[in-house]
Amino acid sequence: MTKPLKIALLGCGVVGSQVVRLLREQESDLAARVGAPLELAGVAVRKLGRKRDTDIDPALLTTDAESLVTRDDVDIVVEVIGGIEPARSLILAAMASGKSVVTANKALLAEDGATIHRAARENDADLYFEASVAGAIPLLRPLRESMAGDRVQRVLGIVNGTTNYILDKMDSTGASFTDALEEAQALGYAEADPTADVEGFDAAAKAAILAGIAFHSRVTAADVHREGITEITAADVASAKAMGYVIKLLAICARSEDGRSVGVRVHPAMIPRSHPLAGVREAYNAVFVEAESAGRLMFYGAGAGGAPTASAVLGDIVAVARNRIANTRGPEESTYADLRVHPMGESITRCHVSLDVADKPGVLARVADIFAKHDVSIQTVRQEGRGDDAQLVIVTHRATDAALQATIESLREMDTVRAVAGVMRVEGDEAP
Ligand SMILES: NC(=O)c1ccc[n+]([C@@H]2O[C@H](COP(=O)([O-])OP(=O)(O)OC[C@H]3O[C@@H](n4cnc5c(N)ncnc54)[C@H](OP(=O)(O)O)[C@@H]3O)[C@@H](O)[C@H]2O)c1
Repeated sequence: MTKPLKIALLGCGVVGSQVVRLLREQESDLAARVGAPLELAGVAVRKLGRKRDTDIDPALLTTDAESLVTRDDVDIVVEVIGGIEPARSLILAAMASGKSVVTANKALLAEDGATIHRAARENDADLYFEASVAGAIPLLRPLRESMAGDRVQRVLGIVNGTTNYILDKMDSTGASFTDALEEAQALGYAEADPTADVEGFDAAAKAAILAGIAFHSRVTAADVHREGITEITAADVASAKAMGYVIKLLAICARSEDGRSVGVRVHPAMIPRSHPLAGVREAYNAVFVEAESAGRLMFYGAGAGGAPTASAVLGDIVAVARNRIANTRGPEESTYADLRVHPMGESITRCHVSLDVADKPGVLARVADIFAKHDVSIQTVRQEGRGDDAQLVIVTHRATDAALQATIESLREMDTVRAVAGVMRVEGDEAP
């Protein structure tokens, strides 16, 4: 056994308090696995007097995070404060003074990963961040290490538990978005201000991190096309259900057909009920990876919560601790492919469109003509109702999003179309 490795923990909230608990409860197992005891050197918080979810020696608590991260006796800095500042400055200071860093901070890595990764490289510091995407699910390390010999084509995932809980409730009970959100808030699945979740910001940050690793390229949150779920109605969910689909908020990272660019997007989409992601209920997360040689892989589990996220943080702590003892470090960020991130218009998708039309001769032909003009072919058409209340429900074949959006604009301008009642992208089935 070598001398203890000392950990500075930044933040002791939902995740941090569980990291403290697991370090204490698994002390001897962790020491045996690492080959050295892991000891807490200090815990930086905002308010010393706050009640914590675990027992913690008050002597370890400090509000002086700046001094803690550069202390000589600290080996590993674990950042679970969240947000951009002071997390970024603290991580940079830690790396500059030779510490290994573990973070769960998706917002920071997606906004300014370049600065953090560069600092890791320049300071020869370890940087692990498994908990930043999909909580407990081992996903980044499999993508970064186990799949390093393959060529990932697409990553398709449910990476936000709050929105999955809301959409699942809407699907299983027929609830409205507002009622499902209120229930999620009452159960602690959604925050009082749910914007980051329901508007897709959280999922977009995770999509940027996933795409960067999967495609060996730099992708930031600003590159991600983002749409949230606030506009989804109970009627949209019911109509999807009637057609054998379920609506999910998806993060989709896909290589273009020529392989020269990638598209990264977060938006609600209809997926067939037979798709493995359709069975992901409540607040669970799942990510589907399609790779040239491995084929289709699915990663499933708890995407958030104190203990599940702390499990991923602990895994990273063990990895960096072992690296320190072996005097080595984990793999650096890989961005050599430097692929262009293409705009949403170039992404290939399909669309479900419902139109309120008058049931008159020639309407269907004129509608079909608009699709043809934009080079969008129709897979299925169904007519519901008769007379003045007729509705045409059209599902397209694959086309660029730009062509699909242009088609919808043209449909809106047609005098025979009273209203475009619903538009939803369709993913997850590879109909020709
Ligand atoms: N919660 C999850 O399920 C989950 C899942 C995956 C990833 N994450 C990520 O994990 C990180 C932490 O999330 P969380 O849910 O644990 O957050 P949280 O419950 O809000 O805890 C944040 C902690 O940081 C401390 N803090 C805030 N500002 C500080 C400052 N300036 N200096 C020192 N300490 C400061 C707070 O201190 P006080 O306690 O004194 O206020 C609190 O202990 C975030 O990056 C988040 O995205 C969370």
